[in-house]
Amino acid sequence: MSTEPDLVLPACDFVIFGGTGDLARRKLLPGLYQREREGQLPATTRIIGASRQGLDDADYRAIVAEAVEQHVAADDLDPAVVRRLLDRVHHLTLDADRPEDWHTLHALLKDRSDPEHAIRVYYLAVAPQLFDPICTRLDELGVVTPTCRLVMEKPLGHDLESSRRINDAVGRVFEEQQIYRIDHYLGKESVQNLLVTRFANTFLEPLWNSRWVDHVQITVSETLGVADRAGYYDRSGALRDMVQNHLLQLLCLVAMEPPTYVGPDTVRDEKLKVLQALKPMQREDVDRDTVRGRYGRGHVEGEAVTSYADDLGRDSTTETFVAVRAEVQNWRWAGVPFYLRTGKRLGRRHSTIEVVFKEPPHAMFPGSQGTTVPNRLTICLQPDEGMQLHLTAKVPGPGGIRLRPVSLDLSYATTFRERCPEPYERLLMDVIRGNPTLFMRRDEVEAAWQWVEPILRRWSDRDEVPTTYAAGSTGPVEAAILLARDGRAWQESVA
Ligand code: BG6
Repeated sequence: MSTEPDLVLPACDFVIFGGTGDLARRKLLPGLYQREREGQLPATTRIIGASRQGLDDADYRAIVAEAVEQHVAADDLDPAVVRRLLDRVHHLTLDADRPEDWHTLHALLKDRSDPEHAIRVYYLAVAPQLFDPICTRLDELGVVTPTCRLVMEKPLGHDLESSRRINDAVGRVFEEQQIYRIDHYLGKESVQNLLVTRFANTFLEPLWNSRWVDHVQITVSETLGVADRAGYYDRSGALRDMVQNHLLQLLCLVAMEPPTYVGPDTVRDEKLKVLQALKPMQREDVDRDTVRGRYGRGHVEGEAVTSYADDLGRDSTTETFVAVRAEVQNWRWAGVPFYLRTGKRLGRRHSTIEVVFKEPPHAMFPGSQGTTVPNRLTICLQPDEGMQLHLTAKVPGPGGIRLRPVSLDLSYATTFRERCPEPYERLLMDVIRGNPTLFMRRDEVEAAWQWVEPILRRWSDRDEVPTTYAAGSTGPVEAAILLARDGRAWQESVA
């Protein structure tokens, strides 16, 4: 157990609205368990799960214990730590419409010795239509103090206007610096390392621009289908579910200018500038530069799998795959395409950023044999975090020059022996710490919607059924054509 004193956080009341829900069970409670294991939570920290189910503390503790056992790796399970975590867990039966339930919450929170200064985290792991009523109630109860934080999960709206409505509603009660909008991609170690790779080293910076970079590819490829989330997913689709948030956040981290230092507003200001520099999509751009698909039946990792329509139980025009050609219109990136793609039920699970450099300006080895490839930096976000720099090398031999592509490989798993924390562990602790750097600011979320909205509008006007791709493939052929048109191809990096 780590006992580094600066790792121990201030005590807090961590209130999870939706305390028995899927997110709480799969991510939040296991994440808190891991931090408990590291000794990061002081003895007086309380975890209060609020839900409509009439449970007492003992019932809820059983649910928490089960969630931890199911979602924490067996090697990390320690019964003594589970017991310590359960000791701080409470349940509150809360029906938003029943005033007496809210008074119970009030009494519980006011129980603290210095309630006005206590850190309270209100985590909204509930449907967005409850955000407004919950915040309003908290305000009426007088339990929102300057040391409180509010955490929100996506979907933060389904378009710009609905996103503004949510932001306005929570903004009436909480100051912007108290609001933590989670994008779990920002909690991934490899995503944070992207900032370090770019800005704690010098060698990339002179090359990181349109003079040397040919194009950038960002891929988040999933093997899973929509499973039991089909209802939510069908109202969302891949563009809203993945591109508006995760993929655009990755694009921002690749394209942003160096901030003066890594702080909440310095980083977010730079990301915002990237979003604002994205070339707006006109109708003809959408037709030319976007591809939609949805999975049909097929085989993934050797298993026969059902189609999206099978999973949903009916037909639909929602996309489960999207590819987009974006451009960042600024001095650094003018003319460099950023190709984004993401899809469900593809052949392989991988999330990768490929920065593809230009060919050398002059071919110096005219009589050489073998193949050359443009230099490429591959940043693997998952499943095997690491980086590869692809170079051309000479094959050893006494006569002539034979060229061959080779790569320098950095695997985090073999380089670092430390355990790699799950994104939520890091993000939950940042909330308690009061560090919003890795959370999305209101203006970022809205700028992202602003860019995505014309695509949604055009798709909706066209009202077409997305192209079907076979489950287990790399997506619709149109996605390959999108790059082929520019004389390029997706890097299908090998696992
Ligand atoms: C979520 C999406 O935000 O991210 C899911 O709603 C998606 O549809 C998931 O599967 C992917 O996250 P990860 O960390 O598994 O790449």
